[in-house]
Amino acid sequence: MRIFIDTANLKEIKEAADMGLLDGVTTNPSLVAKEGYKDFKDLLIKICEIVDGDISAEVVSTTCNEIVKEAKELASIHKNIVIKIPLIKEGLKAVKILSSEGIKTNVTLCFSPSQAVLAAKAGAYLVSPFVGRLDDISHNGMELISQIVTIYGNYGFNTQVLVASVRHPLHFVEAAMMGADVCTLPFKVLEQLVKHPLTDIGLKKFLEDWDKLKKS
Ligand code: G3P
Repeated sequence: MRIFIDTANLKEIKEAADMGLLDGVTTNPSLVAKEGYKDFKDLLIKICEIVDGDISAEVVSTTCNEIVKEAKELASIHKNIVIKIPLIKEGLKAVKILSSEGIKTNVTLCFSPSQAVLAAKAGAYLVSPFVGRLDDISHNGMELISQIVTIYGNYGFNTQVLVASVRHPLHFVEAAMMGADVCTLPFKVLEQLVKHPLTDIGLKKFLEDWDKLKKS
């Protein structure tokens, strides 16, 4: 399973990349706004300089023609840019056109298996089901991942399942158990994946015992 970081914060992206385990970055308009970046193009260039992997950049247009135009501008910034397009009718039309021209798309704001089927049929490179936001409204977000993985397997769709809106390490573990292709993580969750109290206790004891031996 590929690991992406879900942030527009360059410090977090750099720190995650330094771990040597990062395969890509996802951003969205809210994440970019949170960091206060006005120059989206400049931000994307900086991200592409840090991470050599898929970098999702989201369009803010909502009609097919405008989405295609915006997508082409974003895609021209760097070869690793993947165009994030909302799962609406006009978005699917644009995905079909862009995929036929070899431009990679990440169909976002996916909340149902039927939407995921349409994204795959349109030729999406990635589909992003939002698990945390479903959990937030008392739906089982990970069940959606299981359904999509099964459906895509049934028909041999090439679209990769990117688990998005991740809130905690269990989402990551379940995604891996289900065979999702990618999991995009907030920086906090990436850090949580590393930590285990028994690792810290064990390491402390190993170092103390080593120290005692040296001093004896
Ligand atoms: O990037 C899309 C998605 O991961 C957003 O997550 O936490 O805003 O639901 P969240």
